[in-house]
Amino acid sequence: MRIEVVEHPLVKHILTRLRDAETEPAQFRALARQLTLLLAVEATRDLPLREHPVQTPLEPTTGHSLAQPIVAVPILRAGLGMLEAITELFTDVRVGYIGLERDERTAVARAYYCKLPPIGASRVLLLDPMLATGGSAAQAIEVLINAGARDIVHVCVVAAPEGVQRLNKQFPQVRIVAASLDLGLNDRKFIVPGLGDFGDRLYGTGAR
Ligand code: PRP
Ligand code: URA
Repeated sequence: MRIEVVEHPLVKHILTRLRDAETEPAQFRALARQLTLLLAVEATRDLPLREHPVQTPLEPTTGHSLAQPIVAVPILRAGLGMLEAITELFTDVRVGYIGLERDERTAVARAYYCKLPPIGASRVLLLDPMLATGGSAAQAIEVLINAGARDIVHVCVVAAPEGVQRLNKQFPQVRIVAASLDLGLNDRKFIVPGLGDFGDRLYGTGAR
């Protein structure tokens, strides 16, 4: 199975607080943002750099700038919880949106929105915290490839082996970066142990 799980103590610390059923939406949003900062570092570790001179207050030296544009694409709605961290780190990022919603009964995602910037040779960071069956991510990746994307990293918080295997098979060229590879899916296709419905926990729309 090809997945890059970020092994950092802070990742485990933040993820545990996200998993905790007692964590309220305001805290959940802050934690999701913090965790995405750490995941983004891993997802962009291999970005190319351009060398150029820079004048410090003391003397000239060689500096570096990112040489590949970044496009971030959150899958609505839960992916929005990861977007702010990316726009904060990559100030020149262009943002697209893909709206997908799983049917509660069948767990099959239905597309309801899509707006993408020009992609070209950009690194595309596909943002969706939960990789469960992989159906939503697969639909989104298909859309991105049809829009010309050639360098896609799927950034998620929790992944299930079922979703990872599906993406590995269908899109071997797509990297997956996650905070955890969990045990699997329950009979409602929720990730276990997981953290529940990420969108509901982010926006307080779940049952109380
Ligand atoms: C969740 C999650 C993913 C999807 C993962 O979204 O954010 O998009 O389910 O499941 P899959 O891998 O089985 O497709 P959901 O459809 O609940 O919509 P929401 O973000 O609007 O809550
Ligand atoms: N979507 C979620 O938000 N959580 C899961 O466990 C599976 C899909």
